[in-house]
Amino acid sequence: MAVASVVLTAPLASAQNLDAGKSPEKLFADGCSACHRSPRGLAKGRMSLTLTWFLQDHYSAGPDTAKALAAYLQSVDEPPPSAAAKPRAKSSKPRPPKPVQAH
Ligand code: HEC
Repeated sequence: MAVASVVLTAPLASAQNLDAGKSPEKLFADGCSACHRSPRGLAKGRMSLTLTWFLQDHYSAGPDTAKALAAYLQSVDEPPPSAAAKPRAKSSKPRPPKPVQAH
């Protein structure tokens, strides 16, 4: 069981990167959820590189951890408010916004 093995091996692994092998969800729950209630809306459409740098810089995450977290934050990022406000946003497949059609 993953949870049990993490608990049992943690003291032995103290000299290593404890974040190694954790899922981004777990990383967020452990390290971020105290201040950020939800991972949603944190990426704010930023590029993964920008986000990765931000996370490394502000939270001293290792490069791999920062990368995984950045990808996670992007994957759960909320669509911009204009897209969310559209009535059919939920029922239809995600589509790139269409330019205004000139008929
Ligand atoms: C001690 C509280 C605290 C913890 C823990 C924390 N954050 Fe933050 N975070 C903040 C605050 C306060 C801000 C807003 C200030 C700023 O932008 O620098 C912020 C801003 C951010 C932003 C930028 C959001 C924006 O609006 O521009 C991201 C992305 C972010 N945090 C991700 C994370 C991740 C990922 C973790 C876990 C590794 C984490 N945070 C842990 C307090 C925290």
